[in-house]
Amino acid sequence: MKNQSKEIVYNLETSVFNWEIAPGKTIEAWGFNNQLPGPILQANAGDTLVVRVTNNLPEATTVHWHGICLPAGMDGTDAMQKPIEPGEMFEYRFEVPQSGTFWYHSHTNETVQMERGMYGAIVVNSEFDPVTDNDRVFMIDDMKLDEQNNFTTPKWYVPRVVERHDGREGDTLLINGKENPVINMHAGQTERWRFINSSSARYFLLHMEGRPFRVIGTDGGLLEKPRTVTELLITPGERMDIAAGPFNEDESFAIESLPYNRVTFLKAQRQTFATVIVGAAKQSNAFIPGVFRTIKPLAAQDAEINRTIKLSVGPSLKNGMNFKVNNDMHVNDQPVKVGELQVWEINNASLMDHPFHLHGFFFQVLEVNGKAPEYMAWKDTFNITPRTKVKIAWMPDNRPGTWMYHCHIIEHHAAGMMGHFDVIDDSKPYVSKPAHHMHHH
Ligand code: C2O
Ligand code: CU
Repeated sequence: MKNQSKEIVYNLETSVFNWEIAPGKTIEAWGFNNQLPGPILQANAGDTLVVRVTNNLPEATTVHWHGICLPAGMDGTDAMQKPIEPGEMFEYRFEVPQSGTFWYHSHTNETVQMERGMYGAIVVNSEFDPVTDNDRVFMIDDMKLDEQNNFTTPKWYVPRVVERHDGREGDTLLINGKENPVINMHAGQTERWRFINSSSARYFLLHMEGRPFRVIGTDGGLLEKPRTVTELLITPGERMDIAAGPFNEDESFAIESLPYNRVTFLKAQRQTFATVIVGAAKQSNAFIPGVFRTIKPLAAQDAEINRTIKLSVGPSLKNGMNFKVNNDMHVNDQPVKVGELQVWEINNASLMDHPFHLHGFFFQVLEVNGKAPEYMAWKDTFNITPRTKVKIAWMPDNRPGTWMYHCHIIEHHAAGMMGHFDVIDDSKPYVSKPAHHMHHH
């Protein structure tokens, strides 16, 4: 029987607090409800979330509900809402129409606020989810700290340019706010692990010391069918759900990230994020079917492109380089009309990778450099390798307002690689707005 939709109320309070990332190792975190990550918000597809955010940070904030198809006014960007000032409260209210793994994070001064821990997970369940023996969220992050475990900002030109170019990566590696946590599970069981890359810039190439696992879902919910792999790239902003196990009694292995070359100054390394210890066997009720659903293509592979978006990197005397959309920074792009299929070509003309994120709507990838992708999926964040053209399709449903797309490497977003655009309801007259007021920090 279908569950009745309900309203679920959460109170989130942002503040500065001490957080132990390892025994005896404490940082001054910024986050929600004195925990890092913030609490997991749980709902069933069709429920309404009411989230009251009280801001006790020393500066203004907004909260973005990454991946949720919500009304523009609830999207948490400064184009659509007045930032929540210290001491103020804002009530977000929106339906969560689709099941899957989503997350929330600060959308104000992100290079500081997200880096310090302003994020948490949203899990939306449905009656069609495969049955697993356990369900866990793994939020991936890394922090750049000095010897006293303080957050730093690069003082000199060269390290500043490196951080702007590469994005901010640190060697304090966290899963759910802890350094190398131990994950205990039972032999013989299969668990659903929801990975969310909440880091500023780190590319996480999931590997479990060679053990195969099944990818079952991504940004917009389940895939059509499980895919068995031994490694899986999860870029900043992306989610990947896997079925992990069954493993044998007394097995132990690392959840690690293999080096991925995204063409940065600092070279990636193989690193351990967590350790899995498999204990006594326990009966399993898990069932991962061979087919989850059919994802209907929104458009043919050769559908006509109605917008191109060029991502590029250009020189800047002050900052070393700027990050651009269509040769400009922080652009205002053309509006799109409700109900008009969008076929966009994202052209990464730069020499490094960028995870492209579209707010509020899921897209399908039609082709990458002229080739259809290997499998169908609903995405809101998709990595674009250097000198690559990706063709995507998406449908603006009736949620007018100002939306945005941007690179989810937070430093690139801040350095200009983003665009605002309006979704307009054609039955109403469109009044074009002056350029948006932007906050730069
Ligand atoms: Cu998770 Cu504007 O982003
Ligand atoms: Cu980028």
